[in-house]
Amino acid sequence: MLRAVDRVSPFALHPGASHLRVLDQRRLPGEEVWLALDEVEGVAEAIESLAVRGAPAIGCVAALGLAVAARGFPDEPAGFRVALASALQRLARTRPTAVNLFVALDQLAAAAAACGPDASTTALRAALLETAMRHADDDLASCHAIGRFGAPLLPDRGTILTHCNAGALATAGYGTALGVIRRAVELGKQLRVFADETRPVLQGARLTAWELQRDGIDVTVIADNMAGALMAKGEIAAAIVGADRIARNGDVANKIGTYTVAVLCRHHGIPFYVAAPWTTIDRAIASGADIPIEDRGADEVRTHGGRLMTPVDIAVRNPAFDVTPAALVTAIITDRGVVAPGDIATFAG
Ligand code: MRU
Repeated sequence: MLRAVDRVSPFALHPGASHLRVLDQRRLPGEEVWLALDEVEGVAEAIESLAVRGAPAIGCVAALGLAVAARGFPDEPAGFRVALASALQRLARTRPTAVNLFVALDQLAAAAAACGPDASTTALRAALLETAMRHADDDLASCHAIGRFGAPLLPDRGTILTHCNAGALATAGYGTALGVIRRAVELGKQLRVFADETRPVLQGARLTAWELQRDGIDVTVIADNMAGALMAKGEIAAAIVGADRIARNGDVANKIGTYTVAVLCRHHGIPFYVAAPWTTIDRAIASGADIPIEDRGADEVRTHGGRLMTPVDIAVRNPAFDVTPAALVTAIITDRGVVAPGDIATFAG
């Protein structure tokens, strides 16, 4: 039986609006607060501070935010192009691992270049906006395709483990890993989700739990260190996660802790799936060793809800992502089809 699923999107751009609205994910699940962004610096800070996060959503918000901010760029072409170049550079410095960010910025740069050297600022603004909107539309369509390709891989009933948030909140809507789960549930599969809480920023406990509960999908939060014990008891049928960047050899960079889940899955003979749009595959990168991994501030580890959890100034490490070797990945579910990680370089789709 098909079930209507309530859709969430982390951003909204209403026709003619003077600003981009972004759901502030730092405040979820307690409060639904929308930011109104109309300048490059505000967009960059929203991305850096995780008000918006998740590789595809970062790309969409960077593109749409820049297109909206371009309304305030100088009204003569030379000045406009200088402001555009500086905006592209600023946004490229926000989150180094999420490759979709760079895909989106490259699309905007190419759209401006395609307007030609004599283009008016009106034409440049229109090209940026159209390109950014198409980028977001394409991402949403990709999520639905990923859902369609991935749903048959999940069992008809059972519990699926996910890590971080690769859902509607991390994309233009519907989600990648959670898109596969949504589609499977829409098709009538009786699935329960275990959401790893995902220390240190708790994307699983706060965001995956929030959006699945809102959709009426059976979700249970577990602390990150519980997955192994639950697998050993036979409680987990499969794991599915998103990706921030996939190298040519199929190595996958995703939220810190993903590698641990993949190792546990291998030990327990449980399938470990990665769901990501084709734009997350970076064919320029040979292996995971070359993927830039973002290091984030120490206070994300030291504090919880604004309260210090460690001795003051204690040394901490905070790599935001890890790399799961291709050998631990059962399959990569893309919008072009399901691919064995070793076949990424040659897959025609
Ligand atoms: O630091 P975040 O919250 O941006 O990390 C997000 C993830 O690791 C997601 O799994 C990934 O971006 C895929 S989202 C569809």
